[in-house]
Amino acid sequence: MFEESPQRKTPDSLMLHGFWYRALPSERVRRNRIQKAILLEIPLVLGRDRQGRPFALQDACPHRGMPLSCGRFENNQVECSYHGWRFEAHSGQCKLIPSLTADQKLNVDRIYAGNYACEEHDGFVWVFIPEPGPSGAGFTPRADPSIAAPEVPKFSDKFKLAFLTSDLPGSVDHGIIGLMDPAHGPFVHQAWWWRSRSSIHEKQKAFEPIPMGFRMSAHTPSSNSAPYKLLKLYADADSITSTIDFTLPNRRWETIRAGKYWFSSLTTVTPITRRHCRIDVVAAWNLFRWVPLAPELLKFVFAKFVEQDRKTMQLQSEGLKHNPHLMLIDDADRPAKWYFQLKQAWMDSRATGAEFRHPIPGPVTLKWRS
Ligand code: FES
Ligand SMILES: [Fe+2]
Repeated sequence: MFEESPQRKTPDSLMLHGFWYRALPSERVRRNRIQKAILLEIPLVLGRDRQGRPFALQDACPHRGMPLSCGRFENNQVECSYHGWRFEAHSGQCKLIPSLTADQKLNVDRIYAGNYACEEHDGFVWVFIPEPGPSGAGFTPRADPSIAAPEVPKFSDKFKLAFLTSDLPGSVDHGIIGLMDPAHGPFVHQAWWWRSRSSIHEKQKAFEPIPMGFRMSAHTPSSNSAPYKLLKLYADADSITSTIDFTLPNRRWETIRAGKYWFSSLTTVTPITRRHCRIDVVAAWNLFRWVPLAPELLKFVFAKFVEQDRKTMQLQSEGLKHNPHLMLIDDADRPAKWYFQLKQAWMDSRATGAEFRHPIPGPVTLKWRS
């Protein structure tokens, strides 16, 4: 029943390489400007070329380490502020070393600044963080990832899209567990229009393994919350189905469908450093599309939840400072246990080259009160 939190045992395994991560909201990556970001403790410099395509370079010059963000961006090249070496923004390939004389035959284009695959979806720039490369990097072009960055699922041509983002104190693991923790709702997320502490009741939900994660299967969501009652009435739908998926490394997918209406979101908790992470919620929906204030209202609700979670994590980080013993209990913490097991399975498969062995054997029903 009790289990020590694996996090305590594996302090060096907080961040998973080999995945796409949200780096910055699109609106913060402008043309002709470079912008700093950090992902998995890697300092990055992001920008956009003249066509608007985003790029990401490691924020350190391969010559002598000057942050490239101190330099300037011109003609699709980033120029280092120290000795003026120039790098093509997308490939990182060196194009110019100003100190070379005409008779010096150094192969400039064999040199690369650290560079990362970039994609833009749903208002965010995503960056692929590969496994740490072999030493000698600096002379190799990057290998592009074989998978595309994830997108928020959409179920009709017309929809609205909104996002919100918040920095969270604490390690990515605590941020992710918080995303899937069913028992904190009545205590952290109280609001008269949502639910109160006294509405706590026993729940039972079906879970099943999915590739690289698990799913809380489609069901009619909690009847004790007013918004769902309203939705059912509005959509004139017999049933409302809702699915919540978690997939490695950090993704929570939620889909709600009621007749022809739908709501869909992809929430990620991204490791910035060992002690900081960031939550980004991107939601798309075709409900209430013509109601003028609906997006604002929805954003207000989400912002409120996220802020409640942020405050909670801030307080929790005080308690975690001195590395107390922690425990995870059944069934309410089972999703958290699965997360650690999935992560371990992924790291094992990376280390041994063996196939990923899914730690969840099959469908299971969990019970808790919330
Ligand atoms: S450190 Fe960048 S050009 Fe020398
Ligand atoms: Fe929460």
